[in-house]
Amino acid sequence: MKKYYLTTPLYYVNAAPHIGHAYTTIAADVLARFLRAKNRPVHLLTGTDEHGAKIEEASREAGLPVQEFTERNSAAFRELWQHLDIRYDDFIRTTEPRHESRVQECFAKLLKSGDAYKGRYRGYYCVSDETYWTETDAPPDEKGRRLCPNTECRKPLQEVEEESYFFKLSKYQEPLLKHYRENPSFLLPPHRANEILRFVESGLQDTAISRTKVKWGIPVPGDPEHTIYVWFDALLNYITAPQSSEAFTEIWPADVHIVGKEIYRFHSVTWPAMLMALGLPLPKSVFAHGWWTVDGEKMSKSRGNFVDPREITGEFGVDAFRYFLLREMPFGNDGNFSLDSLRKRYNAELANDLGNLVNRVVDMVDRYLGGALPGRTKQDTPSLAKEFTAQGPTIDAHMEELNFCGALILIWKCVGRLNIHINEKAPWKLVKTDPEATREILFDLVRCLRIVAGWIEPFMPQTAAKMHAQIGVRQFPVPLSPEQVLAGESAGTGKILKAPPLFPRK
Ligand code: MSP
Repeated sequence: MKKYYLTTPLYYVNAAPHIGHAYTTIAADVLARFLRAKNRPVHLLTGTDEHGAKIEEASREAGLPVQEFTERNSAAFRELWQHLDIRYDDFIRTTEPRHESRVQECFAKLLKSGDAYKGRYRGYYCVSDETYWTETDAPPDEKGRRLCPNTECRKPLQEVEEESYFFKLSKYQEPLLKHYRENPSFLLPPHRANEILRFVESGLQDTAISRTKVKWGIPVPGDPEHTIYVWFDALLNYITAPQSSEAFTEIWPADVHIVGKEIYRFHSVTWPAMLMALGLPLPKSVFAHGWWTVDGEKMSKSRGNFVDPREITGEFGVDAFRYFLLREMPFGNDGNFSLDSLRKRYNAELANDLGNLVNRVVDMVDRYLGGALPGRTKQDTPSLAKEFTAQGPTIDAHMEELNFCGALILIWKCVGRLNIHINEKAPWKLVKTDPEATREILFDLVRCLRIVAGWIEPFMPQTAAKMHAQIGVRQFPVPLSPEQVLAGESAGTGKILKAPPLFPRK
């Protein structure tokens, strides 16, 4: 059975991972966990992009041999993913033999078909973005400098003239436009599609795909003076990673490439054109998310304001960090990161709304039922758990569309509903006159908490596990959907577990 194949970009190993890298990877992990919970076979690929001028320069600045440098920095990404509870199925480094040999094969194939040819490149190059720019893309500013036209970058460009292999991108202009027209869900989210359509309609030029001035790269087959341009090399990772043709057919075509908006063009124009040239099916969609600023400013080396995920998790925990990133900024939009807004959401939504709720319910079961979990009552009257179940399909639809924020808003509406319900029913009064009705209310509340725990598992796996332990879920596999929760109850068994607050106030 074909797996749902989702990917993150391969991150450059020039520097330590920061919140931007964590963001894409957490989003991919959340989607993968959601799908796994639905019993969908999933393959999540991430990795590191290790060749090219940018890495060569960074290793020189660090005073380390480039292999050692990439080794160390690639490991930092893997360690961070482990720390952030990212469960990927494969991690690819572009310096691995499985990748290098297949990239050379692809290059040779394009040479043979005539889609790659030798020429001469004259123009500008941004090392930071590893991007070619033409004279008209980057006119000189008032000081006569040519700066990278990418507004997120604006670094000085290098003037380059060298012999180069080119990829016949121009040939794929019409086929690409046709593909976008016929597959309206290829360019996601829809509000970002226009930018790509305009770009392709304005005319595609052939692009350089090899460098002679950069030694740290994969040699062009049969012409080792040239190394393969880092983007041509890196994009291919999505198909070089599977080791065998069986593994390949299990995952390809990818269901979604999740990328930041600054590399959307590479993924929605260059990459599908490369695949067309190689005669391979195209991914089903490419999703571009927005960018974080920090306290209103762009993150940059000169400002020294890169947010280190470990500093945040050290204070707030891994789950709160994961939650905040996906709740604060709708996936696809831009947004701002600040400790102040993180603390506000932490205290209001995690400590108060959710943490307190779990505490209250566990406490009441402890107090009024001696800690024994309430079982199904005789009537099983219309209950909140049924109302919650009706929300399931909408939450699922949001998740499938990568609308993580929408899903969380809806889940928190349910959490709010539970808090109101407890206040209205006031079990602490009711227990004095009607213990049976109290038991029924508590049963409903516990069921609802089990549903909520299942919904938040993709976002906050540790919290979901703690909730399950507290509300007596001992089944394996843990019931994650409302239907599983409702089906899987054995009445009146088990005990709640009193535990410290899920989110101590900050
Ligand atoms: N190596 C290329 C990608 C090659 S994919 C075949 C690259 N690497 S990168 O290290 O610069 O990582 C880019 C990714 O980091 C972006 O696509 C985005 O996912 C993430 N982000 C980097 N800074 C970011 C923000 N400030 N905000 C949100 N995400 C950002 O490009």
